[in-house]
Amino acid sequence: MAREFTRVGVVGLGTMGAGIVEVFARNGVDVVAVEISEAALARGRATLTRSTDRAVAKGKLAEDDRDALHSRVDFQVGLDALHAVDLVIEAVPERLDLKRRIFAELDRVCRPDTILATNTSSLSVTDISVATQRPQQVVGLHFFNPAPVMKLVEVVRTVVTAADVVDDVEALCARLGKVDVTIDDRAGFIANALLFGYLNHAVSMFETRYATREDIDVAMKLGGGLPMGPLALLDLIGLDTSYEILNTMYRHGGRDRRHAPTPLIRQMVTAGLLGRKSGRGFYTYEKPGSPKVVPDEQTPAATQPAPESTGGSAGSELAGPAAVTTVGLVGVGAIATGLVEVFARAGYEVLSVDGGTEPSAGISEAVRASLDEGVARGDLSAADRDATLARITWSATLKQLADVDLVVEAVAEEVGGKQALFARLDEICKPGVLLATTTSSLPVIEVAMTTQRPADVLGLHFPDPTARRPLVEVVRTVHTSAEATATAQAVCAALGRTTVVCGDRAGFVVNALLFPYLNDAVRMLEAGYASVDDIDHAMKLGCGYPVGPFALLDAVGLDVSLAIQRSVYREQREPGLAPAPLLEHLVTAGHLGRRTGRGFRDHTGR
Ligand SMILES: NC(=O)c1ccc[n+]([C@@H]2O[C@H](COP(=O)([O-])OP(=O)(O)OC[C@H]3O[C@@H](n4cnc5c(N)ncnc54)[C@H](O)[C@@H]3O)[C@@H](O)[C@H]2O)c1
Repeated sequence: MAREFTRVGVVGLGTMGAGIVEVFARNGVDVVAVEISEAALARGRATLTRSTDRAVAKGKLAEDDRDALHSRVDFQVGLDALHAVDLVIEAVPERLDLKRRIFAELDRVCRPDTILATNTSSLSVTDISVATQRPQQVVGLHFFNPAPVMKLVEVVRTVVTAADVVDDVEALCARLGKVDVTIDDRAGFIANALLFGYLNHAVSMFETRYATREDIDVAMKLGGGLPMGPLALLDLIGLDTSYEILNTMYRHGGRDRRHAPTPLIRQMVTAGLLGRKSGRGFYTYEKPGSPKVVPDEQTPAATQPAPESTGGSAGSELAGPAAVTTVGLVGVGAIATGLVEVFARAGYEVLSVDGGTEPSAGISEAVRASLDEGVARGDLSAADRDATLARITWSATLKQLADVDLVVEAVAEEVGGKQALFARLDEICKPGVLLATTTSSLPVIEVAMTTQRPADVLGLHFPDPTARRPLVEVVRTVHTSAEATATAQAVCAALGRTTVVCGDRAGFVVNALLFPYLNDAVRMLEAGYASVDDIDHAMKLGCGYPVGPFALLDAVGLDVSLAIQRSVYREQREPGLAPAPLLEHLVTAGHLGRRTGRGFRDHTGR
């Protein structure tokens, strides 16, 4: 029989604490909500009021229930108010000395049977617990931001946490409508250990002007399918909290340089730019605590010229896009098939050519079948399908590309084959034609330099799954002209896709941020810290990701993922980016994911 928790205490009513108070009070538990001063208490109360008023306005909470919720919360200054609670959750700033002091004080104030929990994101629960005389009653209860919304709670047990204490808090999580994963005490636990390397990398991309804040965030939302971009997420978490988490993870998580906080984060914290809570972080907000972004000096104008800082020849910034009506698509694989359909449906005359580097496959049947499915689903009419098919010409010879305005190459991901193809295109195509490669992991410049016209060559990266993601990364090499970039952007706009312009670095924006995270998940599994299901759960329920890392790896293909990770590692030479041995072994064993029926999961019976 699990223990009843009728009265709990929450210490610290900032970004997390106020949300945790709401979670308990909404579920009928009385809460003593404690802050350090009257002013901080008023801020915490205001946060709770704002959040519950928003829930009422959205129809998610009845007015009576809101009032009942508030009546369950007793706001107090000082820890002495916690003498009669069953459980305390501490949510003060992420500093070990502060948390240890508070736990020593809680140990003195609280009843002997009270369970003491910390909401720390990265600090050692063990280090905190030994500041008390009751380390067996200390656990981590790691809620996610925003606490009332995110379903996950990581329950962290130390080597001395009593089993019944863990059972009791697990039962409590279920009562709160949360899903818990119970794990050992390791820096960053599951979700933050996988999240913060990615967030830090996004900041360094921004700091080095590789891409704008908007482009980085849009790339990960539209290209990675994530609920919010990394810089907006850092603003939500708080830059001060993020700095402390990264610092701890660097020091206690193996001194991986990817966790050493990017200097810009420290500078922003020093300048008081803490994110939403201070009204300004990477973005500017209507007022402190507001989620509403307002324009500032970095907000792009409505018609934004391609940024010169990401590479490309200078001097032709005013160049407009060239007219494109006919598009040649070279290749017979899944990407080529998807793109033939995408371009033809957008109204382009498409010449689909077997690149001669792969065995000819039934690409026309595949496109037809996909269009038929679209008709059956009601996405397009039979007449649209027929008109789309009428715009496609099928050919086996590259020579037919002599008259097209744009060539999109989507042959096998192998540099020699792509180089040979571009050398041929250079001989065949008329001058001024845009030549694009869809590579996801090879340097575009290596392909461009096999032609006599590298200014007209760029990358068009359609993140997986090609047919559905509304994003295209337009990759400029150091040679790509502004006109070529403008043409590519105009074509992508005609396809109804958002574009992000970036430089020619391994993984571009999306894959450079996404695949190291996937690789880290494999390393975590390999280390035996958590299971495939727990890790997938943690990222879905804690961070709102549409799928967990292992589901994504199995969908993308382990061989494709390994190739991308290898290229990112080869370029950056960062030890933490080396492909996880388990990923290499599964690829060697032929377990490539859904395509072969087995990857991290067995898909044969599904
Ligand atoms: N921000 C997030 O997204 C997030 C997510 C999960 C976990 N966490 C963790 O939650 C904890 C709190 O982080 P936050 O982002 O809410 O911080 P925050 O800075 O927004 O809030 C901390 C609050 O603690 C109060 N406080 C400071 N000293 C106190 C004391 N002695 N007694 C009572 N209150 C005191 C402060 O006044 C402040 O309101 C940290 O351990 C953090 O790692 C944060």
